[in-house]
Amino acid sequence: MRFKRLEDQDLAGKRVFIRADLNVPLDQRGAISDDTRLRASLPAIRLAKEGGARVMVTSHLGRPEEGVCREEDSLAPVARRLAELLAAPVALIKDWIHGVPELQPGQVVVLENCRCNPGEKKNDPDLAKRMASLCDIYVNDAFGTAHRAEATTHGIAAFAPIACAGPLMAAELDALGRALAAPARPLVAIVAGSKVSTKLSILQSLAHKVDRLIVGGGIANSFLAAVGSDIGASLAERDLLDEARTVIETMRARGAEVPLPVDVVLAKRFAADAEYRIAELHPGEVCVEADEMILDIGPRTARALAQTLESAGTMVWNGPVGVFEFDAFSAGTETIARAIASSKGFSIAGGGDTLAAIAKFGVADQMGYISTGGGAFLEFLEGKPLPAITALMERS
Ligand code: 3PG
Repeated sequence: MRFKRLEDQDLAGKRVFIRADLNVPLDQRGAISDDTRLRASLPAIRLAKEGGARVMVTSHLGRPEEGVCREEDSLAPVARRLAELLAAPVALIKDWIHGVPELQPGQVVVLENCRCNPGEKKNDPDLAKRMASLCDIYVNDAFGTAHRAEATTHGIAAFAPIACAGPLMAAELDALGRALAAPARPLVAIVAGSKVSTKLSILQSLAHKVDRLIVGGGIANSFLAAVGSDIGASLAERDLLDEARTVIETMRARGAEVPLPVDVVLAKRFAADAEYRIAELHPGEVCVEADEMILDIGPRTARALAQTLESAGTMVWNGPVGVFEFDAFSAGTETIARAIASSKGFSIAGGGDTLAAIAKFGVADQMGYISTGGGAFLEFLEGKPLPAITALMERS
């Protein structure tokens, strides 16, 4: 993958436009509840600031209606937090499309939520041109929105004098490339979540690439049903059993494997204090009562998967394998998280729930790489070209 990098640019005095992903969660009072994305974006901002550039940073926040910028859509809390992190004033510029006041070298401003500008989401070329005219160097550091072809993530790259990747974007692409382009084998993917339908194309694509495809959550339930296991009242998509069987067969034909749970944790209520029991699964036999739900993998399954992960060359993790938010159903996900953490293989994890599980079990420092992308991470895994990356490569 060839693209220009911010660190190779001559920045002194240049007007640098950074498209970051500062789409941070806000609490009910509008305060930032987790600033991970903001801190992940700091290296690009610092690099430009310390290089003497005149720095404009923008991002989307949520999915506002274009042409309207309500108080809750504003990047004002982001600008305030950025000022704290940089220990320097950071003004918020509201109407910036038709011009930004002249900045001093080393000065940083935040340009209001770019998704409030009419034409942003449709990647309007006139809007992209106008934005490009504000800068000498366009920097895309927003891996989290790399799967969107919008004016600030795609269109602008074609018109700016220079278009390059920021350090976060470059690190994401380097790590994902390492995990998928020429991975150390065995390559093990964990794809878990509530629905096969939302991750079917990823499962189908990974079935041609990975050596072990570990499925979890509602996805595993559908796979279990597909091989004739009894799953009681568990969440599953019974209209996708053929697709699940095809994934299993594709893997088997390559000498690869989808290791399905051999035991599970069952409960009759979806609640933290629900009574639970562990049951062995035997395809073709009734092992789960009609009103029981599978809420986690069992200990035998967890141990076997941990062994697989400990001897993996590369691990890609998206999605917890049980209801890890409830302690009674968190052991499977914890075992997986710790096995990845202690494995000598290279690991990459991404997706909101996965990051929450990593934080809960305190293993963030032992992951090879933690991606800031949700949808972008999944689309990259699927092998889809990401429009923002394509745009940067075209300007390499
Ligand atoms: C995310 O939160 O995954 C990114 O910021 C992308 O947001 P979007 O799905 O609204 O484009």
